[in-house]
Amino acid sequence: MQEPKRYLITSALPYANGPLHIGHIAGAYLPADIYVRYLRRMGKDVVFICGSDEHGAAITIQAKKEQTTPEAIINKYHAIIGKAFQDLGISFDIYHRTSSPIHHETSQAFFVQLYEKGVFEERESEQYYDEAYSQFLADRYIMGTCPVCANPQAYGDQCEKCGTSLSPTDLINPVSTLSMQAPVKRKTKHWYLPLNNFQTWLEQWIIAGEGRTEDWKKNVLGQCASWLKEGLHPRAITRDLDWGVKVPLPGAEGKVLYVWLDAPIGYISATKQWAMDHGKDWKPYWQDADSKLVHFIGKDNIVFHCLIFPCILKSHGEYILPTNVPANEFMNLEGDKMSTSRNWSVQVHTYLEEFPGKEDVLRYVLCANMPETKDSEFTWKDFQARNNNELVAIFGNYANRVMVLTQKFAAGRVPAFDKALDSDKLVADYRAQIDQLYAVYQQSILAYRFRDALMAFMDIVRLGNKLLTDFEPWKLIKTDEPKTLGILRICLESLADIAVLCEPFMPFSAQRLLGYFGADAAFTGAIGEQKLVEGANLGEPFYLFEKIEDAVIQTKLDALEAVRLSRNQVAEQSKPVVVLTPVKPEITYDDFAKLDLRNGVILAAEAVKGADKLLKLTVDLGFEQRTIVSGIALHFAPQDIVGKKVVVLANLAPRKMRGVESNGMILMAEQADGSLQFVAAEGDGAPGDSIS
Ligand code: MF3
Ligand code: ZN
Repeated sequence: MQEPKRYLITSALPYANGPLHIGHIAGAYLPADIYVRYLRRMGKDVVFICGSDEHGAAITIQAKKEQTTPEAIINKYHAIIGKAFQDLGISFDIYHRTSSPIHHETSQAFFVQLYEKGVFEERESEQYYDEAYSQFLADRYIMGTCPVCANPQAYGDQCEKCGTSLSPTDLINPVSTLSMQAPVKRKTKHWYLPLNNFQTWLEQWIIAGEGRTEDWKKNVLGQCASWLKEGLHPRAITRDLDWGVKVPLPGAEGKVLYVWLDAPIGYISATKQWAMDHGKDWKPYWQDADSKLVHFIGKDNIVFHCLIFPCILKSHGEYILPTNVPANEFMNLEGDKMSTSRNWSVQVHTYLEEFPGKEDVLRYVLCANMPETKDSEFTWKDFQARNNNELVAIFGNYANRVMVLTQKFAAGRVPAFDKALDSDKLVADYRAQIDQLYAVYQQSILAYRFRDALMAFMDIVRLGNKLLTDFEPWKLIKTDEPKTLGILRICLESLADIAVLCEPFMPFSAQRLLGYFGADAAFTGAIGEQKLVEGANLGEPFYLFEKIEDAVIQTKLDALEAVRLSRNQVAEQSKPVVVLTPVKPEITYDDFAKLDLRNGVILAAEAVKGADKLLKLTVDLGFEQRTIVSGIALHFAPQDIVGKKVVVLANLAPRKMRGVESNGMILMAEQADGSLQFVAAEGDGAPGDSIS
């Protein structure tokens, strides 16, 4: 394969509606950063692109939940996420945002280009509409029962319990999360990308690998193959929503681009912005055949990056396709799926606050457990063990021993080589093994096997430690000073190599090691080649890492245990939690005044045949007795509610339910967990008293 002239590396644009957790980092950001830092070190022309994904219904829903605007949400989280990346040393060349004007222009122009080429199909379809709110409902705004696992809180696009991807019409008993009422179907027009027309081409490109220069990961190919096997269908790429990139066509008011159309184009607009900021040309990165494009993502993004976005790029005609999409699987936390909304995660910004100076520890542990081929696991005990037994005991210890011995025996300066050691068998073995491990390190990074690369790195450190054990300079100094110093020189050269090799994984430690070697230690030359100047002054010895005590880990475990406990309690006591009960649309006083509410007392209650939810009540209203049918049978036994004081809506139009005419309604309060309570006036009012 010909060497690419330039590299364009992207990481999935995170949704700006919540903080990042460490699973995100292990999935799409750390691997990309390692890859990019390595390429930069090799002198490649590389741009590393990311930014906030600021559109989509998830963000408008979040805004509703927090009773604020989408703008406020994205500004808040764009700042939190951007800072977390920076503090963790994820070295984007730009962290952009899709709310920027340049992105709106770029994605609109892209849409128009495809529209004018006749790529899209225009279709009318029936979609759910919330009459109370007068708006079409994005898939995420519809909740209902999952047809697969019966989870009563599945969303219109996905059931988060069983992971099935759904469309709103699959849901049983759908409700709008805006009005909490059943939505109706209405006609609307949208533009579709006919993915089916690309099926053959995708099969050739992805499955047969035609025109591809790199192998793709098995987990990625597997997912693509199963989508292709199912057969691809036209996919709507516009939405009825007022938040997003407006569809730039006449008659398309109230419509925006589907977030999964605009977000990947965000990579392009970010590259444009970066080029403008640096006086560069963005086009070669996206359009020249000698550029290499790699998308780093998590597995939930595979279909968008491997099937949909390539179809869009290809349809446009002027763009290259990704050379690779090395998607990762998921990282779990202490045996459970990581999730911010379920409060089961380690958030990046809180970690950085709680563990200052331990950025590299997190990077190391996440890389060592990276979910490259299958889901993996983060546990606090493993975090502690890897820190104490690997970083402290192997890496930090080696660096410190070399520094201390150099200070002691070589007055803190770079000593001379000892020619005699060149013919020493142990030294020759050492050098041969370093060469081998370095080759593994390089090949592994280039093949997106970052765990293997990290292991090779640690083995290189272990070899240094072994050299010290083999030669015991602290004893040797008594009999052979030149040889002792010669060994120390080899160790110092190895530490300089280590400083370079650890940089992609642990850039903060690399920086500190470079500091030890002096301000102008900009090492050139390959690993294993001489890097240091004899006689140069070195820094003071230090420890790169420190032990993490049991108590610290216990605090983290206790916090998670508390979450688990509270979750179990909720699960035991309650039916599913209703997540969203937004306030209904405004009414006037006159609307309210139409309600005739009265005190009442339940005189009798009985079950209704064939309706396990209904009770037939006889209610005393003072001036008359009423029959009222109420849907409370699952909550109360008839004999328990006789004598209860209630509030009755007395002027509700009669309604027949299961053959029984109901005249009015009793008011009930519903708790978040779904349980019901009677509503009644305090004190000793009489039946028939009016309530207003
Ligand atoms: N925001 C999406 C997510 O978090 C990822 C978008 S990646 C891009 O799942 F390609 F669309 F930018
Ligand atoms: Zn389900």
